[in-house]
Amino acid sequence: PNSKLTDRFGRTVNYVRLSVTDRCDFRCVYCMAEDMTFLPRQQVLTLEEIARLARTFTELGTEKIRLTGGEPLVRRDILELVREIGSYGLRDFAMTTNGSQLPTMADDLRRAGMHRLNISLDSLDPDRFRRITRTGKLSQVLDGIDASREAGFRGIKLNTVVLKGRNDDEVPELVDFARRKGVDITFIEEMPLGEITEHDRSVAFCSSDEVRGIIRQHHDLVPATEDSGGPARYYRMPGSQSRVGFISPHSHNFCSTCNRVRVTVEGRLLLCLGNEHSVDLRRVLRGNPVSDDKLRQTIIDAMELKPEKHHFEVGGDVQILRFMNMTGG
Ligand code: GTP
Ligand code: 5AD
Ligand code: SF4
Repeated sequence: PNSKLTDRFGRTVNYVRLSVTDRCDFRCVYCMAEDMTFLPRQQVLTLEEIARLARTFTELGTEKIRLTGGEPLVRRDILELVREIGSYGLRDFAMTTNGSQLPTMADDLRRAGMHRLNISLDSLDPDRFRRITRTGKLSQVLDGIDASREAGFRGIKLNTVVLKGRNDDEVPELVDFARRKGVDITFIEEMPLGEITEHDRSVAFCSSDEVRGIIRQHHDLVPATEDSGGPARYYRMPGSQSRVGFISPHSHNFCSTCNRVRVTVEGRLLLCLGNEHSVDLRRVLRGNPVSDDKLRQTIIDAMELKPEKHHFEVGGDVQILRFMNMTGG
């Protein structure tokens, strides 16, 4: 079905990222403050409300849904939501996860109808992994990656946020790890979301150009011909099925082809990751009388607010106050 969601710049929105929780068992330095406070229960959408949003977006022509967090797998009964959305016949149904729960949940997720997984992996060294995630255990995530490979997903992608002096020297090893496991890997430039005092983003920033340069010392990178339909630019390496992607909000502006919107776990529809424009869908979801028409129309009208592009800058003065765990990236 053709999407009924188009914006003022002629872009079609057919991809929705739904955050299912702001909570997480990790505290990654670039994502959260150490003493993060989480939302009270009544402000958080119920699983039924999230499913209703997913169904409504699907009726409006959405072809791809990604569940994000926080960490989606720490939400109680998440598999029920996956099973429900998995029954909508989406072309693509995916999740972004930190991997910690995958050793026990990967198989159930696949059976519940999830097609693809993106798993965060910032280091292959247990001590460093602990320092970056503050609470994460590397061996659990590595087991989770293996469990996912065995579960038979359509695609598995690793996500690495590259930080100077913390993991930039591990780029070649991470690429080799992805090749050995037969999965894709994407290197991400850090984005200024949330004020995190104990972490200096301008010092840690590492550009995709630098990362690409490092990889080229080890492997040929051939631009992939297929369009990712997302912010990542992909390359193939001769002799490997694995692709290497780069997400470069600073150095490569991909906004002109943006096809996505996000819904936070409070039911705020965000039209762009790098702007604060939002529409309160929770109020409509909880409105009396319950109206599917009203919900549909609110979403259609919201597209007018989608800005032309984000305004991230390295060391710039644009600071989005919302933390990344509110939007799931
Ligand atoms: P696909 O759904 O396959 O495109 O995956 P993805 O790589 O977009 O999703 P994932 O959840 O793995 O996000 C990886 C990184 O990309 C995160 O750091 C996100 O914040 C970033 N990202 C995803 N979409 C956007 C976007 O529209 N704008 C910006 N600036 N960054 C994005
Ligand atoms: N900048 C870039 N990526 C981030 N992520 C979390 N916070 C940030 C940030 N400030 C990444 C995580 C995960 C994905 C959902 O977003 O590492 O891979
Ligand atoms: Fe949790 Fe992901 Fe944020 Fe790390 S980046 S603290 S795993 S939500």
